[in-house]
Amino acid sequence: MALYSEKVMDHFRNPRNVGVIEDANGVGEVGNLKCGDIMKMYLKIEDDIISDVKFETFGCGSAIASSSMATELIKGQPVEKARELTNQAVAEALDGLPDYKMHCSVLAEEAIIAALDDYEKKSSVSDLSDK
Ligand code: FES
Repeated sequence: MALYSEKVMDHFRNPRNVGVIEDANGVGEVGNLKCGDIMKMYLKIEDDIISDVKFETFGCGSAIASSSMATELIKGQPVEKARELTNQAVAEALDGLPDYKMHCSVLAEEAIIAALDDYEKKSSVSDLSDK
């Protein structure tokens, strides 16, 4: 049996939504201290919908495939749906990851949460300045 599913290989070779959103209103960066890999997520949120998402991942193939799949899963979704995305859901959508690579999908979940937290922090600050 192949170690990696075809979906993992596909998202690793042709990652979707790679890049930077200049006017993102939520940005999150996380890293894994053990392997040193880093993932950065950019969200453009309009009316509580994730209208655009891009990522930069300096990491292993599973981390790249996980971030690519995670962006596909949250694009066009409401904010609260994106918050519920788990690393298991990302791994399942990729038709599985080897056990010792599951932590790579955790980075994708954490990067999205970090970007959503950043968005919420920024939008509560702008709420205050409106008053
Ligand atoms: Fe570091 Fe995969 S080995 S995220």
